[in-house]
Parts: sequence; structure tokens; C-alpha cells
Amino acid sequence: MTAHRIALVPGDGIGQEVVPAAVRVIDHLAAQAGLDLTYEHFDLGADRYLRDGTTMPADVMARWNSGEFGAVMMGALGDPRVPSNIHARDILLGARFELDLFINLRPVRLLDPRYTPLKDKGPDDIDMVVFRENTEGLYTGIGGQFKKDTPDEVAIEAELNTRKGVERIIRAAFEYADRHGRPSVCMSDKSNAMRHGHDLWQRVFKAVAAEYPAIEALHLYVDVLCMELVRKPERFDVIVTNNLFGDIVTDLGAQLQGGIGLAASGNLHPGKVGLFEPVHGSAPDIAGKDLANPLAAILSAGMMLTYLGHPELEQRIQKAVQDVLASGAVTRELGGSLGTAAATDAVIEVLG
Ligand SMILES: NC(=O)c1ccc[n+]([C@@H]2O[C@H](COP(=O)([O-])OP(=O)(O)OC[C@H]3O[C@@H](n4cnc5c(N)ncnc54)[C@H](O)[C@@H]3O)[C@@H](O)[C@H]2O)c1
Repeated sequence: MTAHRIALVPGDGIGQEVVPAAVRVIDHLAAQAGLDLTYEHFDLGADRYLRDGTTMPADVMARWNSGEFGAVMMGALGDPRVPSNIHARDILLGARFELDLFINLRPVRLLDPRYTPLKDKGPDDIDMVVFRENTEGLYTGIGGQFKKDTPDEVAIEAELNTRKGVERIIRAAFEYADRHGRPSVCMSDKSNAMRHGHDLWQRVFKAVAAEYPAIEALHLYVDVLCMELVRKPERFDVIVTNNLFGDIVTDLGAQLQGGIGLAASGNLHPGKVGLFEPVHGSAPDIAGKDLANPLAAILSAGMMLTYLGHPELEQRIQKAVQDVLASGAVTRELGGSLGTAAATDAVIEVLG
């Protein structure tokens, strides 16, 4: 029996509801497929921080980095009781940076035509994968404040771009396109206005693209990319971009595929532990009310199963989610009437 050990961090808000939902689904599949999935639950998040001041213990990060776990499944982090968001920064960004999970892989795939806001676009039109750089850019916290809370205040947020970091994410995008028969890779930056860091992206993109002559290399400024994603999403197969632009563009992508409740993601570095999480946040407005859509977490768990070597199980999850979307057995924000638990039951029932 193949065995995998998974670290679970439900985290804050609806993370506490959608992670157990995803675990129910993969446990159901594992029982059928003869997989031995075991879990360790990590009490990390706002409650823990408010209780004892702990954000991310160093020994936990070391264990995640040690190979003890095949994957980490995370819910969401963010709580209005912690306005500084320090715990989220230490836990989620901390894991991305310290485990060097440089790929934030975010598929944008419409599973059922009725859920996209775009007129006359269907599943064949909206089917792309975004490679968001995950360890550099504007999210490293490099910068500072000077004369804070005075009229002369200065605040600087620096964007970090290294050749190594830019090259490895662009290469990962081309390798993915090559492996999956995707005909094009689009790199998006703002090199017309950001002439240093994004000039590096331009040069590296051209150099890596030259190694993949069979794959079309496109470039769009990020503002144009946003327009084109709405106007002509069928143009896109694989998109590669920096940390900030990837964060924003994938929320746009989430809407194209039916909403934030359907958007899944993985934080990856080949050969290392993978961290899987829905794209959405902790949604304090609906937390604890059995209103959260569990499908994004369930689809993220599917990505995790592929990462652990079981792509056939991810395909079964995708097909089951597609079937429940087609049946209309969905949560309220998609126009249905189900709560989190019942929407999870619907997926499990379809899986049989
Ligand atoms: N990866 C993460 O952990 C992550 C990502 C984004 C935001 N956050 C944090 O989450 C908190 C809330 O952020 P926000 O409100 O900007 O974004 P959010 O994604 O939590 O919520 C945005 C809107 O989408 C709705 N929504 C989100 N997920 C849903 C789901 N599964 N089903 C149904 N509706 C859903 C919410 O009710 C809300 O109206 C903040 O503290 C933020 O920093 C965390």
C-alpha cells in the first residue's frame, strides 16, 4: 500500500471548514485506491497567535523541510483580530520563502460554461495555467518606513528580481508547456515602465524561449494581459509572471472560471515538499456559517494527489467537481442552496 504523510494547516476562518472537507474527499478516494494517507494537524493561525504569540515555530518549518511530509495542505490565513497580519506573513509567506517554493501554480480552467461571466465562452476557451513567481518580487518585505506617522513620512517597498529566480520560474513554465503539449507561453511584465527589474525578465524570457523553438513565446504588459484575458481568454495556454502580477491576474482568472470558490493552487519546488491551498482567503464574512464553497480546497487536494504521484485520482476529482457543477448541486455564491458539508457530500456521492 502506498503511504503519504500530509501536514494539515486549516488556519483561519473558512480554512477550518474547507480543509476538513477536502480531507473527507481524498480519504474517500484513498480508501478506494488503496492509498494510505496519514495526517498531522498543525495548530497554526490567528487563534494560536492570540493565545500564546506563536506564528511559525522554527521546528515546524524544519520538519516540513525535512522530507517527513509529502505535502502540506493549507486553508487560509488572515483574521480581523490580527490587523498586522503578522501570523499570515510568517506562516504562509514564511513557508513559501523558507521552503523555497518558487512556483505558485494556479490553473484557470472553466469546468462548466454556466459559471463564467464571459458571454459565449466555454471550457475550450478558458483553460490555462499561471506560473506565478513565489519567492521574490514585491512580497519579500524589503524596504522601510522613515518618519512614520509624520507629514514627512517615506515608505519604500522594493521589488526583488534575481536572475536565478526569474530564470527558474520562466524555465518551469516552458518545461510545463513542453510536457503538457501546450503551444504557447506568455510572459507578462511592465517593462515599459519598470525598466530595471522587468528588463531582466525580458532578457531572460528571450534566452529561455530560444531553447524551446516549438513553443510560441508571447509577451504582454500586465495591463494588456488583463484586457486580453477578458476579451480573448482562448489566446492563453501558460502564463508566467512575477509575484504581485500573478496574485492579481489569478483573481481575475478565478472569476473567469466561475469564482474564487473554484480556484486551486500549489506552491512547488520540484523534489521538495509541496504546499497546496485554495486561492481564496479566510473569508471572515462567511466563516463558521457553513457557507464556504469547498470545491477550491477539494481541487487543490486533487493537485496534491498528482504531486504525490496519483494523477488518475486528480482526474477523478476534477470529473466529480465537473459533474456536481453541471447538476447545480453547489453552494450559494454559485446560485445553489448547499452548505459546505452538503456540497462536499455531493462530490463524494458522485465519486461513488
Ligand atoms: N492564501 C491565503 O491565506 C489568503 C489569500 C487571500 C486573502 N487572505 C486573507 O483572508 C482575509 C480575507 O481576505 P479577502 O476578504 O480579501 O479575500 P477572501 O478570498 O477571503 O474573500 C473575498 C470574498 O470572496 C468570498 N469567498 C472567498 N472564498 C470563498 C469560498 N470558498 N466560498 C464562497 N465565498 C468565498 C468571501 O466571502 C468574500 O466575499 C484577509 O485577512 C486576507 O489577508 C489569505
